[in-house]
Amino acid sequence: MPTETRRTEAGGRGFAVGLAGEGDPLVLLHGFPLDRTMWGETAEFLSGRRLIVPDLRGFGGSDPLADGEAFSIDDLADDVVAIADAVGVTGPFDLAGLSMGGYVALSVATRHADRVGRVILTNTRADTDTPEVAANRRRIAETVLAKGTAPLAAAMTPNVLSEITIGKSPKVVGRVKDMIHACRPATVAAAQHAMAARPDRTGDLPGIDRPVLCVAGSEDTITPPAVLEAIAAAAPHGQAVTIAGAGHLTPLERPRQFADAVLAFLDRTDSAKAAS
Ligand code: MLT
Repeated sequence: MPTETRRTEAGGRGFAVGLAGEGDPLVLLHGFPLDRTMWGETAEFLSGRRLIVPDLRGFGGSDPLADGEAFSIDDLADDVVAIADAVGVTGPFDLAGLSMGGYVALSVATRHADRVGRVILTNTRADTDTPEVAANRRRIAETVLAKGTAPLAAAMTPNVLSEITIGKSPKVVGRVKDMIHACRPATVAAAQHAMAARPDRTGDLPGIDRPVLCVAGSEDTITPPAVLEAIAAAAPHGQAVTIAGAGHLTPLERPRQFADAVLAFLDRTDSAKAAS
């Protein structure tokens, strides 16, 4: 895990941001309804990079939302740029996002293209929700506001992890359940509404003139490998890799393999830049 956690003011609100290492900046964005600690082991394997690992708005150690506050995925993307500025990264940074973090990464890559070096999208999608999925999100938001996050943690955990992880890695199972349980109900509800309203970014993919790595988990039933492969095929400089044995939370389930894939991609694209 990043060695230092800093309280950072950005855009008028407080964020908890993990910082570690030196080198080219790499920002890591967590999924829903998780927090920055999901990157713990992965961060240890991502040597040679300056890691910036925020808790997104309302999540983890960042400021709670104001009463009734809503946000959009684009708001979270604007926060990411403001956080980078606040920690002194004023030029382009590499950006990795898991699932909801991937929606945010795609928003940064399309709306703040000058701030993005390379993009790593893991266990995520570019398209939007079907009406049924969006309606289900609104139902979950209501239920969590009424009953808290314990039922969500119990229901979600088995769906986001592979059977292999569930069978062999009880610590990972426990961490995921605890992270979901600890997420503030107001944040869960606001994030569900934000994801339900997110735009379809499929049409933006051909315009991302940056190296893009799409990482899938072979056992992910929420965003299966074909979804990541399609994103890589649509992006002009896209590449896809599938990590065996991982479900929807590839960096948590297979941190070393995930980090190895990311480092190989960053090294490959560093060398291509140097050669051009
Ligand atoms: C996540 O892992 O961030 C979620 O699966 C995102 C979503 O609910 O679409």
